Amino acid sequence: MTVVRTDVAVVGGGPAGLLLSHLLDRAGVGTVVLDHRSHHEIATTVRAGILEQDSVRLLVESGASDRVLTEGEEHRGIELAFGGASHRIDFQELVGASVWLYPQTSVFADLAEARQAAGGDVRFGVSDVEVDGVEGDAPVVRFVGADGSRQEVRPRYVVGADGSHSTCRALVPATARRQYHREYPFAWFGILCEAPRSAPELVYCRSERGFALVSQRSETVQRMYFQCDPDEDVSGWSDDRIWDELQTRVGANGHTLVEGPVTDRAVLRFRSVVHEPMRYGRLLLAGDAAHTVPPTGAKGLNLALADVRVLAQCLQDAVRRRDAAGEDALDGYTERALARVWKAQHFSSWMTHLLHRPPGESDVEEQRQLAELRGLVESTAGRAYLAEGYTGWPEARG
Ligand code: PHB
Repeated sequence: MTVVRTDVAVVGGGPAGLLLSHLLDRAGVGTVVLDHRSHHEIATTVRAGILEQDSVRLLVESGASDRVLTEGEEHRGIELAFGGASHRIDFQELVGASVWLYPQTSVFADLAEARQAAGGDVRFGVSDVEVDGVEGDAPVVRFVGADGSRQEVRPRYVVGADGSHSTCRALVPATARRQYHREYPFAWFGILCEAPRSAPELVYCRSERGFALVSQRSETVQRMYFQCDPDEDVSGWSDDRIWDELQTRVGANGHTLVEGPVTDRAVLRFRSVVHEPMRYGRLLLAGDAAHTVPPTGAKGLNLALADVRVLAQCLQDAVRRRDAAGEDALDGYTERALARVWKAQHFSSWMTHLLHRPPGESDVEEQRQLAELRGLVESTAGRAYLAEGYTGWPEARG
């Protein structure tokens, strides 16, 4: 059995885990990152595509990615389409900010490359990961390496950045944790297709038949979604049926889609989930391991990166000081991270309700929703509220 000692063991090698390892390494704090998935599996899982401006700044200023600026695409606004017309929300004019279209798969690729270039200890394809002793001061992480050998990491701290099905989270005893959980009565049918772009910016569309979103990936690959039943079966959807549904929803609001072969299709369920605390003894949780937001506000990846920014500072203090003040820095993590998490929960849920049609919606509710949308686009303050939340709240305000 090989035993490695380090400052921080990070369970989960997605963007949150890798960025944390990258930031800690720059601060002289040692890390070992473990993931049961292979590099290929993470690199090819289709995820979100929008980065807030502070996420971009963090990736660029920490030296994790220059490519986001050269290959990512700055979006200075979005379209809100409803009631037969489309309305531009101009982020630059309203709040002087932009977002960047840069897929999560590219964020992962950049971070994995940066870790490799710096000689970081990142192990993909491990199995049987077991974490012990987070209540005491000598936690242990046992696992089987990709080569089948038994290994052990003895860190000072363990970070669970292991996604919404987190096993680390389960180490917090039931008496010490609280879970907030809400399911939504709809989901998104998401596709990737080979086609030129249909619109220069993202189009968020409310139609009689429900929500649709036109997003992009590149000049030749596009990402789109439409609201569906959570139990929808993707096998019942031919390319023609998908295009009919999307065209009907956006066509009613003045948009037309350029069609092409659908290369990926999946149903994404909607949830709002928050687990607290995000620190328990020597265990800290980050990203989807601690919270899930509905995808409408494009906040999931951004929240994970924001957690990591705060967590890297706290861990750096704790590892350097090795005293009570360092431990206090860690105590503040839950509160600092959750302030932003709950704002993002609200924003994502608000944007979801603004644009989706729940099953069995009353006629009063339908008219109220349209009035809310009209009121929003007619008001500079309303549009600015949307622009501010979408591009991301400044760091200092949580
Ligand atoms: C995406 O491009 O995958 C995407 C964009 C905006 C969202 C959600 C997903 O709100």
